[in-house]
Amino acid sequence: MPVDVTPVWFMRQAGRYMSEYRALRERHSLLEVCRTPDLATEVTLQPLRRIEVDAAILFSDLLLPLEPMGVPFDFLHGEGPTIATPLRTEADLERVRCFEPREALAFVLEAIVQVKRELAGRVPLIGFAGAPFTLASYAIEGGHSSTFVHTKALMYGSPAAWHRFCERLAGIASDYLVAQIEAGVDAVQVFDSWVGALNARDYREFALPHMRRIFQAVAAHGVPAIHFGVGTGTILAELREAGGDVIGADWRIPLDEAWDRIGADRAIQGNLDPTVLLGPLDRVFAATDEVLARAGGRLGHIFNLGHGILPATPVEHVQALARYVHQQTRR
Ligand code: CP3
Repeated sequence: MPVDVTPVWFMRQAGRYMSEYRALRERHSLLEVCRTPDLATEVTLQPLRRIEVDAAILFSDLLLPLEPMGVPFDFLHGEGPTIATPLRTEADLERVRCFEPREALAFVLEAIVQVKRELAGRVPLIGFAGAPFTLASYAIEGGHSSTFVHTKALMYGSPAAWHRFCERLAGIASDYLVAQIEAGVDAVQVFDSWVGALNARDYREFALPHMRRIFQAVAAHGVPAIHFGVGTGTILAELREAGGDVIGADWRIPLDEAWDRIGADRAIQGNLDPTVLLGPLDRVFAATDEVLARAGGRLGHIFNLGHGILPATPVEHVQALARYVHQQTRR
């Protein structure tokens, strides 16, 4: 669709880099914010009051479906998630339950209704869910991992159980996204943040069929779907094949090269390095100029970072960046 400027939004555009978020988090835990529609609404709207973003992303967390699946977790001291009893065996994988998101995650859907009411059509609202590989990696590792040893051991060692598990995760993600669309989100993003740990061959075997199922389920509901991952430069063609109207590209690959791999018939989202925002503004603008030059003014570029805004980022830099993208791309 034609646009008058390149649209911009940021992953983690609500978060610890903003003082108003930190103030609210002094009084409420992360899970409390996620489970209380008034608080989730407030946090979702915080960046919109200060930054020229063209979309809101629902404030929630990727891991919320783990609890109703029977895999309880917590965020310890804001240090990231911990799963008390990670899934380590085939039998563990078989025990995971499907659930009705309209019951178990009703608070998320209520937050969507509230945010939509507050936005009153000013900007679209993006909903999201975790992809099977990424969600499986948390459930199996018990937290964040850099090697994914337990996940890959199960994937390679018990492929049939892996596929049954991922089919269930894909079903859960599909149901959850459809429930979010029915509640009012205008677009959905599927976060496969850590799938860049797989090569193309393994992606094709262990992840692609499940991702395809999610994008097919969403496609029937008429809202655009964004397919996001980090470190996926070498598997962008496979991500494209799995689905998504928009494919994310991180900062390790130049945007024009990424777009070649994604294909001109799809939109692209990215690809500024989030750590560039920690440097001086002239460098932020120079790096942004490069991303925009490589996008070449083609329709279908959504400006974003290659991953989420980091807590140490000066809020002024985020404000200046969004304004700069709009100024430089006004058509
Ligand atoms: O992007 C947004 O603004 C929407 C909100 C959002 C959060 N988490 C809030 C959050 C989204 C889209 C997520 C997704 C998410 N959560 C992912 C996939 C995205 C990604 O980063 O690739 C993952 C892997 C998670 C799980 C998770 N939640 C981790 C690993 C952590 C700890 C890392 C950290 O930054 O501390 C969280 C905590 C979390 N979720 C925070 C926020 C804003 C940190 C803020 C806090 O502690 O108050």
